[in-house]
Amino acid sequence: MARVFSGIQPTGQLHVGNYLGAIRSWVAMQAEHDCVFSIVDLHAMTVPYDPAELPKRVLATAATLIGCGIDPERSVLYVQSHVREHTELCWILNCITPLGSLQRMTQFKDKAKQHQENVNAGLLNYPILQAADILLYKASLVPVGEDQVQHLELSRDLARRFNYLFGETFPEPQPHLTRAARVMALNDPTRKMSKSIPGSYVALTAPPDEIQSLIRRAVTDTGPRGEAMSPGVANLFTLLESFSAPETVAHFRTAYEQGTLRYVDLKQQLAEDMTKALAPIRERYLELMSRPGELREILAHGAQRARAIARETMEEVRAKTGLVLEASAASTVAPTA
Ligand code: TRP
Repeated sequence: MARVFSGIQPTGQLHVGNYLGAIRSWVAMQAEHDCVFSIVDLHAMTVPYDPAELPKRVLATAATLIGCGIDPERSVLYVQSHVREHTELCWILNCITPLGSLQRMTQFKDKAKQHQENVNAGLLNYPILQAADILLYKASLVPVGEDQVQHLELSRDLARRFNYLFGETFPEPQPHLTRAARVMALNDPTRKMSKSIPGSYVALTAPPDEIQSLIRRAVTDTGPRGEAMSPGVANLFTLLESFSAPETVAHFRTAYEQGTLRYVDLKQQLAEDMTKALAPIRERYLELMSRPGELREILAHGAQRARAIARETMEEVRAKTGLVLEASAASTVAPTA
């Protein structure tokens, strides 16, 4: 049984891309591992955001995760900022991180381009906070999508460097790559499905008519019909494989190969099966959102459990890095009575 850690940004509206790319494997890992899952609100502050909206987004994210099958009794589910130790460890790791390794990060370069008016130090240091998240719980397995592999490498580097400088403390966390399904934007299948591209995503809590209309409008043929399947159609098949029965997938594949596939039929079937699969998530979500007090309670309980682990790690870290004044911690000079 390994300690698993992963985090997700509180976008408020998690979508099928998040589900197939990450959440699905979080749910599966709960059965065999000791899992800690965090809603990373501190990471969300690295780009412009509305402070009045953030708490709502956090609650909606929590409700959706629970709706998807994250069990807050079995796993630790909590909000990152509720456990102050994240920022403390982040600072200590800051002091052993080479600047160059941050400037090389693809995600930093992308986001810096996207938010040219606000390239703040938090955006640069984002991967250090992520490393702190993971190391705080001494996690050895981190379920993430492909796009987080570079950040995981930094987490491993920092674990190694800390251990070298201050003594063996952290395991080197390994990415657990989710086999899935890079889900592309419905309205632009050359880009990843994303909350920040309207029309690109199906929210996990979308009502049936919205699912219908989003799928119906999905881009299919982007250019002249060539040899290979167009990215839009390939994306619809990816979704079909995730939400429909194998016979259904086989049926539409055959139709495609024989050149008799009608996209309207494919879309109709997909919308129907997706609606069916998402119905229980939406139901659970609405139920939880109608009792926000209970939801906050669940998250407070999660934070308590997370804090117990975090506190223990930080006591060890403080002692090893020279932040504890007692003689027993520094342990070089014995006091004379
Ligand atoms: N950066 C991750 C993402 O955008 C979210 C995240 C924050 C995370 N802290 C983490 C993922 C720790 C794994 C482990 O998807």
